[in-house]
Amino acid sequence: MWVPTSPTNTLIGMSRLYLDHASAWPLRPEAATAWADAASAAWADPARGHREARQARDLLDRATGTTAELLGAADEAVVWTGSGTEAVVLAVLGSARAAERRGERRRHLVTSAVEHSSVLAACERLRDEAGYELTVVGVDRSGVVDAEELLAAVRDDTLAVHLQHANHEVGAIQPTHEVSVACRERGVLVHVDACQTVGQLGLTLETLGADLLSASAAKFGGPRGVGLLVVGDRGRVDALVPGDDRQRRRRAGMEDVPGIAATAVALTVATARMDTERSAREVVRRHLRARLPEAVPDLELHGPLADAHPGIVAASALYVDGEALVQALDADGVAVHSGSSCATTSGRPSHVLVAMEALTHGHVRLGIGPELTVDDADHVVDAIARTVERLRGEAGMRRRLPTAQEHR
Ligand SMILES: Cc1ncc(COP(=O)(O)O)c(C=O)c1O
Repeated sequence: MWVPTSPTNTLIGMSRLYLDHASAWPLRPEAATAWADAASAAWADPARGHREARQARDLLDRATGTTAELLGAADEAVVWTGSGTEAVVLAVLGSARAAERRGERRRHLVTSAVEHSSVLAACERLRDEAGYELTVVGVDRSGVVDAEELLAAVRDDTLAVHLQHANHEVGAIQPTHEVSVACRERGVLVHVDACQTVGQLGLTLETLGADLLSASAAKFGGPRGVGLLVVGDRGRVDALVPGDDRQRRRRAGMEDVPGIAATAVALTVATARMDTERSAREVVRRHLRARLPEAVPDLELHGPLADAHPGIVAASALYVDGEALVQALDADGVAVHSGSSCATTSGRPSHVLVAMEALTHGHVRLGIGPELTVDDADHVVDAIARTVERLRGEAGMRRRLPTAQEHR
């Protein structure tokens, strides 16, 4: 019997292969220990004046200091949030709010068509409810934004550009540095959504040249429910929720000290292992990209081969339903994600695939963890090939197969 060689999978059962790291990594053991220690030692409200509070505040300050240092920022630059989603929404809405408070009149935003849905939704809210103009720049067939096209959309009244570092669906790396440098010269704020890459690719506010940088702890082996926004010298954000003056009035509510302590540990471990984990994942990514089209007929690979996230492989198999594929692979012990309409909570196909004019049906995203071996990857490819063949057979028995054009 085949047994997965990937130790992370033992966390959720010996016969499972978990390939959804782009949604959430398993909690790193070092982070789990840090979380448990902090939960029993630093549970008090860090904003109070007693000894228990000081204990919590001390840990909060140390965790913030470690995180800031790893991201090349000052301690005061870090704002803790409850998720990556909250961090990016704070970047979009909070920076607009802070600018308006300072009497700023610029009311134009630029973003890309392949941003995380929370970035797009926040920008659309400013457009629909606060009279902002919004330019959404498209992408090429591999999901990459053209820097020149984006910069051509920047106007004299542009307040901010919101651009992701790596795409969450297909792994395309965006030209954030080029965009940041040019925007800086023009006094336009740049927010880089680095939720998919902080802790996975070496980057700091400075190397990106950005003013705001958002991250999600669950995506580098930290706890779920912790996000952070790094606010550089030129960046300003105002809290979205009224309540108190914590975190310099940038985010109200008590900080999750155990979660933050665990995040700092996870980021430290992730940074120390970054090169090893990155190259191991890159080997598996290239292997999967080479083997999938060989093993599965009528399969379209998404995203670029080079300049891509090391842990994301995305593909669409013609004549297959994405939800059925996810369910069948799950039953077969393989956990993957699909952005096909029926596999998403919105009931709509992934806007990323639509923007790329890619096949939206039969889509699977494989989120590769650092422990996944080439043998494991072969097992995944075999499972996908088997499942696709079976589902195609069943579909063929029930109805006429749609053409590739109808699938798009
Ligand atoms: C690029 C990007 N931005 C933001 C988020 C939101 O992060 P979270 O899941 O922590 O809310 C995600 C999550 O997948 C993401 O991939």
